[in-house]
Formats: sequence, C-alpha cells, structure tokens
Amino acid sequence: MSTRRLRVVLEGGDTYDIRVGHRLLVNLGVHVRDVCQATRAVVITDSEVGPRYLSDVKTGLRKAGFEVFELSIPAGEKSKSVAVAAELWDALALLGIGRDGVIVALGGGVVGDIAGFVAATYMRGIGFIQVPTTLLAMVDSSIGGKNGINLAGGKNLVGTFRQPTYVAADLAVLATLPAGEWENGFAEIAKSALIDGSDFTQWLVDNAGMLVAHDETVVQQAIVQSLGFKARVVAHDETEKGLRECLNYGHTFAHALEAVAGFGKISHGRAVAEGMRFAARLAIEAIGASEGFVKLQDDLLDNLGLTPIAESYPADELFERMFSDKKVRNNELRFVLATEPGEWQTIAVDPDLVKIYLILWEQARM
Ligand code: GLY
Repeated sequence: MSTRRLRVVLEGGDTYDIRVGHRLLVNLGVHVRDVCQATRAVVITDSEVGPRYLSDVKTGLRKAGFEVFELSIPAGEKSKSVAVAAELWDALALLGIGRDGVIVALGGGVVGDIAGFVAATYMRGIGFIQVPTTLLAMVDSSIGGKNGINLAGGKNLVGTFRQPTYVAADLAVLATLPAGEWENGFAEIAKSALIDGSDFTQWLVDNAGMLVAHDETVVQQAIVQSLGFKARVVAHDETEKGLRECLNYGHTFAHALEAVAGFGKISHGRAVAEGMRFAARLAIEAIGASEGFVKLQDDLLDNLGLTPIAESYPADELFERMFSDKKVRNNELRFVLATEPGEWQTIAVDPDLVKIYLILWEQARM
C-alpha cells in the first residue's frame, strides 16, 4: 500500500502536508525536517499511547538529528485542563525550549487538543506536528487547527485556531484501536460524506461493509476522502465564520445527548450518529427534506454499525443543554440541516419545533 499525501492550503497562502500510510512514525523525523527549522522536538503523549508508539517516534526523530524530549499526560478528557496546560508550559520552560523547538502531539483528540493549545500559546506560539493515533483524530481533529481545554463551565471553552505544520496518520496504529474508537471515526466519516456530497456518500454506501471489516485500503481511502473534504472546508473558512459550521452536522444534538447522559456514557460517535438521525427528521419539517434522505442516512449509519441508541433521555433536559451550547448565538437554536448529500444549510430552527422533535425522540425510545 502506498502512502497518500494531501495538502491543506489556507486562505492566506500557508500550507501544510498530511500523509496517510505506513512507516510514518519511524520516518517522522525526516518528514518533519523537511517542513520545519526546529532542532529540538518535544513529544507530548499520554499514558496509554506513549508505551505503544513513543519509542518509534523518538527513534525516527533522533535519526533525523533532533534532540528529543518527552512529556506524558494522564490519558483521558480530564487532561484537557488549565492545570495540565500549566504543567506542560512549565516543563517546556524547564527544558529551555525556545523557538528552536517543535511539539509533536502523539495521541488522540485529547492529546492533539492540549498539545496544540500549549504549542499555540507557549512563547506566543511554536510549531507543532499532529500524529493522530485514533481514527477520529485522523479524520477530523488533527487538521483544521482547532485546539482547546475545558473549564468547569463547559468543554473547549478556551482555545485558539492554530494550524499544525505537518500531520502524519500512520495506519499501523489502528491495529490496537478499541471498537468504540472505530465507531467514533465511522460517525465522523459518515458526517463528512453526507455533507460533502453524493460521490463520497455513494462510495461510503458501497464500501461500508469493507470499512467495518477494517479493510486497510478502504480505511485509508475513507481517511483520505474525509481529510480532503475537511481541507477544502478549512481552506475557505479557517476560523468558522460560516462554511466550517457544516462540520457540526449532528453535533448540536450530540453534545446535548453526551452531557445529559453523563460524559463518557455514550461514545461521541454514537451521539453524532444519533444527532444526524435527529437532524434529518427535523429537516423534513424545517426545510423540506425527504423521507428518502432520512432512509439513505439511516441505512448508511446502520451499515456502519451505528444503530440507534436504545436509551431514552428527557426532552426538556436535552433542550436546556442545547441552549447552553457555546455555539448558541442570539438565543437561537442553530442546526446544520441537509436535504440530500451535499445540500445543507445552517439554520435557526423555531425552538418550539425542536421541542416537539425532542419529545418525539424521547417517546420513540420509551
Ligand atoms: N471538528 C469540527 C471542526 O474542526 O471544525
């Protein structure tokens, strides 16, 4: 299998490369050397990923002449905190890292988010490399430059937009990925396909079985297509002034569901899939989507193993949570809604209509 390469080209002209393939950890140093002037590399990883892949990454960086350091944080969402960010800033200062340094984020979304945030803020910003180790991070969070940490008041309330210098998605790391993590990735791939349009959606419909079977060629193609789609979106709207909102398809409901269920009870992937099912039904009434689109999406999600969740949660609690989402503007409930693959819009939906659909959703599960 050959490595695939993509390039993100930002509006201001800046670019960065993404590789999706094999032997990207051991060759990381050579590829980083090609794109940045740094001489010292600090790998930020977590307690689960580090023991598996740190050694390859360090070897690869040393081979290319980098002086290498490592900083490990506890695995899990709790590490996206001010306290952990402060520990990392202090550690970088103690190591004497300056503008000759580059941060390598080795891990899933949590590591990418906090390492990206620390890289964006330490010394007013130093370079960083994303080495995603989950399918979800490979298809979504590793590109686009969003980073963030959580506050008591909510997730990702503090963060910046700062693009990585290079992204390396090594398919070998997926061999140890747990089932729930595959689901998280599948949901974002389905979202990308449905928002991107009919070509990607039809390809995914045709290849869902092979993707679920982890066929490596299909997995690589799904990652490349998702990244290609996201790269095009970010190229036009890096800081989410409009177009980039499309990446939130299914997420208004999903964030509320994850919060009401209690974080970690429902995987992000299942919540996003449920959010897309909710959005498609809401779209029938709100913007005239067809039953045919609902069925196409339902079948696709079913075939990806993202079947509807069995549990019911109170409509009024979900409604409250939607209003407390940081994306609520002017007290309007905004949704990304689609009528068919590639035909989407961001729209403020009458809160009473949302309530009705939430009640219908709650009742359908009782
Ligand atoms: N994950 C959504 C975004 O990057 O905008």
